[in-house]
Amino acid sequence: MRHFTRIQDVGPEGVETILAQAAAWKSQKPGAIFQSRILGMVFFNPSLRTRTSFEAVMLRSGGHAIVLDVGNGVWKLEDRPGAVMNADRAEHIKEAAPVLSRLVDMLGVRTFSAGGGDEEDELDPVINAFRRHVTVPLVSMESAREHPCQGLADVLTLRETFGTTKKLPVTLTWAPHIKPLPKAVPNSFLLSAAAAGCEVRVAHPPGFELHPQVRAEAEAYAKATGGSVTYTHDQDEALAGSRAVYAKSWGPATRAGHAPGDVAALMASYAGWMPTRKAMSRAAKDAIFLHCLPVRRNVEVSDEVLDHPSSRVIDEAENRFHVQRSLLHWLQST
Ligand code: CP
Repeated sequence: MRHFTRIQDVGPEGVETILAQAAAWKSQKPGAIFQSRILGMVFFNPSLRTRTSFEAVMLRSGGHAIVLDVGNGVWKLEDRPGAVMNADRAEHIKEAAPVLSRLVDMLGVRTFSAGGGDEEDELDPVINAFRRHVTVPLVSMESAREHPCQGLADVLTLRETFGTTKKLPVTLTWAPHIKPLPKAVPNSFLLSAAAAGCEVRVAHPPGFELHPQVRAEAEAYAKATGGSVTYTHDQDEALAGSRAVYAKSWGPATRAGHAPGDVAALMASYAGWMPTRKAMSRAAKDAIFLHCLPVRRNVEVSDEVLDHPSSRVIDEAENRFHVQRSLLHWLQST
């Protein structure tokens, strides 16, 4: 039984297999490949794309999806081993995960970072609690550390645009926001692009470094695939000649010593990092713009970038459907 909660679960070889099948089925629909199959979906956090795309995959492939919103018609779930459950969490994942596993064929979980910091996010406590206790394939619909389905959709979008991702220069740039966001999306773009052999440039202000373990994994993938990963605090330098610009906001590497207001002020001080057409003009002539969505217009990314023909954000969102159909099939077949 396989799970997919991190790019490491499939590695560069698995990324290739899943993307090749996704691309093939995009042009030739596979039919009712999930006939009579049920995907259970447990959401601790809101979603538009993830929820709809997974549900659409199941419905369009002859299967069903059951959506559970934790704390909203579903018991609040405890993940901590040994917890004394005398507060609002009425059920432990130790029971919830095996019970759901008796009733569905695959399980998806969305559980964002609890805001406890990068070290806690590295441990990914909630998705890993599910991982320990499920008895069916588990797929991440975004957890504290990674959003691997988003990463696959991002790379599929690059492949469709450029034909190949081998040594493709792409920039992942930090972007401003009104609050510190988790690092799951930037982590997954970095890991997926490195696993696909891209020349990945990561640009962010000082103090916004990604976790060393994520960087080490990306480095290992780049080494294995002939790609590369570089880091800079100079957005212009990273954008120069890039064929794709991926904008995403994330919080500082550590909030120790920062009051919440200080973090917001720190992020506001980098408002000039918001991608504009002027910034995009430093990239290659045929450069595309990517963002996982949702996006705060004119805070994180300017209207002119999102509304320009070079923006592929809608294609990228559609590709969530295609990679997830391929992924769920792969999880069921191995
Ligand atoms: N990109 C993404 O995961 O979108 P949702 O949060 O709307 O699911």
